[in-house]
Amino acid sequence: MRELPLSHTSHLSRASDRSSSGLFITGTDTGVGKTRVASAMAAWYRARGVDVGVMKPIATGGIMRGARLVAEDAEALALAAGSDDPPERINPVCYRDPIAPYSAAIRAGRPVDWRGIDRAFEALTRRHPFVIVEGVGGLAVPLARRMTVIDLIRRLRLPVVVVARLRLGTISHTLLTVERACREGLDVLGVILNETEAPVEGAGRLAARSAVDVLTRWLTVPVCGPLRYRSSSATPWASAAWLERGVSPSRLRAWASSRCRKTGIATAAASKEIVRNS
Ligand SMILES: Nc1ncnc2c1ncn2[C@@H]1O[C@H](COP(=O)(O)OP(=O)(O)O)[C@@H](O)[C@H]1O
Ligand SMILES: [Mg+2]
Repeated sequence: MRELPLSHTSHLSRASDRSSSGLFITGTDTGVGKTRVASAMAAWYRARGVDVGVMKPIATGGIMRGARLVAEDAEALALAAGSDDPPERINPVCYRDPIAPYSAAIRAGRPVDWRGIDRAFEALTRRHPFVIVEGVGGLAVPLARRMTVIDLIRRLRLPVVVVARLRLGTISHTLLTVERACREGLDVLGVILNETEAPVEGAGRLAARSAVDVLTRWLTVPVCGPLRYRSSSATPWASAAWLERGVSPSRLRAWASSRCRKTGIATAAASKEIVRNS
């Protein structure tokens, strides 16, 4: 297996070390920018010579292209990564209804094919030294009876990056997501705040700035961004540059080479600090 041409990444070449062969991009919600961020990451690593694989294991709202049901998220990821993997490997499970995956699975009479996801992921990790996987919705989204996105992440054994929308309300969503992830034993590498809407002046801008400030104080994981609001007509290369303006190259390199570690919500001491500073 080839090694990443990034520093301190030799362990990624160990096929047995599945926990550090990629990133799982989750979010505080749907529509927060997971596809944007995952695509930009794929483009960023690719621009540095990394052979990056991409995956969207489960998608809903698939569209017909000829006789095939395809996920637009998977197509965006593949374009950014320059991937020539078969579409069914990049997106092994796709439902047509644009609704929550568990409901879509029930309506389609087709439960999530976990073995199919395992096989596709194995094939991607055999072919690529680094694989970026986009989740579906947020962490607690049900995928089957008693199975959520958390179980999917455990199954793939990947560290997690949380994408959060930068606007009023994001503090609680982000803290809940990181807290739950940590409680479930997931390895949270960081949070990326993303401006999904054009920034407004006045109170809106203040709310966004204070969200960054509060989350930075409250969380012990890195809080990155904000990624600026920008229309979506970007090439993969432009999106890599967009990502780099919000997440430093050193951070992106570190994420590619991170080992599993336990992280989480800051302790009560930090909570007091935030009260003191407010
Ligand atoms: N920084 C941004 N600037 C402008 N539009 C954005 C930004 N981030 C996301 N969007 C838009 O918001 C929508 C949701 O983003 P997407 O990446 O598809 O979210 P998710 O994958 O979490 O559902 C898309 O139309 C996307 O183009
Ligand atoms: Mg998406």
